Amino acid sequence: MSVKAIYPGTFDPPTNGHIDLIQRGARIFTHLTVAILKNPVKNPLFTVDERVEMLREATRAFPNVAVETFSGLMVEFARREGATAVLRGIRAISDYEYEFQMALMNRRLAPEIETVFLQPAGRYSFIRSSMVKEVFSFGGDVAELVPPNVLKRLQNRMAKV
Ligand SMILES: Nc1ncnc2c1ncn2[C@@H]1O[C@H](COP(=O)(O)OP(=O)(O)OP(=O)(O)O)[C@@H](O)[C@H]1O
Ligand SMILES: [Mg+2]
Repeated sequence: MSVKAIYPGTFDPPTNGHIDLIQRGARIFTHLTVAILKNPVKNPLFTVDERVEMLREATRAFPNVAVETFSGLMVEFARREGATAVLRGIRAISDYEYEFQMALMNRRLAPEIETVFLQPAGRYSFIRSSMVKEVFSFGGDVAELVPPNVLKRLQNRMAKV
């Protein structure tokens, strides 16, 4: 059976936790589309185009993974992609409440699409993009938290500020 999935998120910036989840998803699903939400409300560090580039570079080794952007309802994007599964990560119980509500809302909107939760490797379970940005902005070492290409971009970005 062939199953297409999407992995939606903000990815500002992509972290090793995201890549770990993508790698796991790529093993389960026939095809996985990483879907970057174009959210006009948030104030991102990297543009959507930069995030597309970073994720494409960091997922080049996975032949069945693509990177796209979307706006509007996530389930509508999933339908357009022909996806029947949505991949989300659960780092800790604290993620679960919000993820559970979103999964049930999405099921109401699109009953044919299932949300699948995966857990990252333990060493990645504390990583979130917002914390990477905060630690890096105060001079903390994030080399083990993000892929090398993302680290380079962070260094270039902060050098300009
Ligand atoms: N370290 C991680 N391990 C497993 N899943 C993760 C990890 N970081 C994020 N995810 C999951 O990836 C999806 C997209 O997350 P999102 O784009 O919000 O990243 P984030 O790291 O949580 O960033 P932010 O701090 O901006 O919320 C969510 O399902 C989230 O739970
Ligand atoms: Mg988040």
